[in-house]
Amino acid sequence: MSDHTEALDEALATYLKTLSAAGESDVLRRLRERTAPMAEAEMQISVEQGRLMALLARLIGARRALEVGTFTGYSALCVAEALPVDGKLIACDVSEEWTAIAREFWAEAGVDDRIDLRIAPADETLAGLRAAGEDDTYDVAFVDADKEGYGAYYEACLALLRPGGLLLFDNAFLGGRVAVPEVGDAAAHHVRELSERIFADARVDGALVPIGDGLLLARKR
Ligand SMILES: C[S@@+](CC[C@H](N)C(=O)[O-])C[C@H]1O[C@@H](n2cnc3c(N)ncnc32)[C@H](O)[C@@H]1O
Repeated sequence: MSDHTEALDEALATYLKTLSAAGESDVLRRLRERTAPMAEAEMQISVEQGRLMALLARLIGARRALEVGTFTGYSALCVAEALPVDGKLIACDVSEEWTAIAREFWAEAGVDDRIDLRIAPADETLAGLRAAGEDDTYDVAFVDADKEGYGAYYEACLALLRPGGLLLFDNAFLGGRVAVPEVGDAAAHHVRELSERIFADARVDGALVPIGDGLLLARKR
């Protein structure tokens, strides 16, 4: 939703972004540039968040990944680059138009054989994976789509992750709206509810990181 880290002043945010951009591959940089003029460009995760997600995927030795909400493919490419050559990322989205751009850049990066794009409502794709017996087989999952679905995505992804696997949710700050009790919109309600649930859930270790628009982490115990 936001291309900047909300918690920082402008000078520090620029510093963080410039430094992080030096760690990006050439294809990632070009994908950001390709997406920037689009009206929906704000939906793309920030460069610093991409670096953190790639590092986390590497830290846990991720081989199998899930993504809910792919857009033009930036976050998926960050994670796919961090997977081994025989790794697999299942990317869920409903837009053929936006993911056509993703496919183009994944091919350029030479990781298109690692990414299995499923064009369908993500709840259906995740239910299909569960029905196929894939519970406990994924290492990392990133959710960055419709906020009303966050609760259901949490349960489905948690089941699909192996113990020690990592679940990440974007937009945990919703531009700051989650922290204002009088903000009563549905998205703020769903995101607040999920954050509180994760910190109280004995099945996971939770953490909330002030990067981008807030990154909510849950490690499956
Ligand atoms: C915020 S964007 C994702 C941005 C992406 N992670 C990135 O870094 O570029 C949200 C995406 O979720 C997709 N989406 C919305 N509702 C969905 C649903 N029910 N199932 C699957 N994808 C959905 C939209 O089409 C959109 O591409």
